[in-house]
Amino acid sequence: MSSYASLWRIAGVGCWLAGALIAHAEAQENELGRSVYRATCSACHAPENVMVSAPKLGDSRDWRRRASPDAAGLERLTEHALNGIGAMPPKGGNPALSREQIQSAIEYMRQEVRGVPQR
Ligand code: HEC
Repeated sequence: MSSYASLWRIAGVGCWLAGALIAHAEAQENELGRSVYRATCSACHAPENVMVSAPKLGDSRDWRRRASPDAAGLERLTEHALNGIGAMPPKGGNPALSREQIQSAIEYMRQEVRGVPQR
């Protein structure tokens, strides 16, 4: 009986550990996206930047209109951001950025939803 109890305890700790590791990995990824966004993309993609037609940080409607939230959609958006599209210069005007950095910034902009109700 007590061995069952300790087995459950070990299983519980295992699940908690796995969950903590996943949460940690996600937070790190968003950290990269956020720093790229802040350094380069926010110049045009910040929500308060109403004069620019860029899809805004955290505006799910802006982003949904451009691509589905799946991997293929993200891939397409990344290509556009790398090559430039419309009024947006290639890589947002920062040629030093890698594909990975661009992609994380896009994910960050799509995911980040401030307490504002999404229309
Ligand atoms: C100089 C202003 C500017 C900067 C800086 C900028 N963007 Fe943009 N971005 C735009 C504009 C304007 C659009 C809308 C283009 C259109 O649809 O005609 C856009 C659109 C996009 C799109 C949507 C592409 C699509 O398929 O519709 C993505 C993704 C994107 N930007 C990512 C980024 C990322 C990532 C960064 C930072 C590395 C960045 N942008 C920096 C102006 C900018």
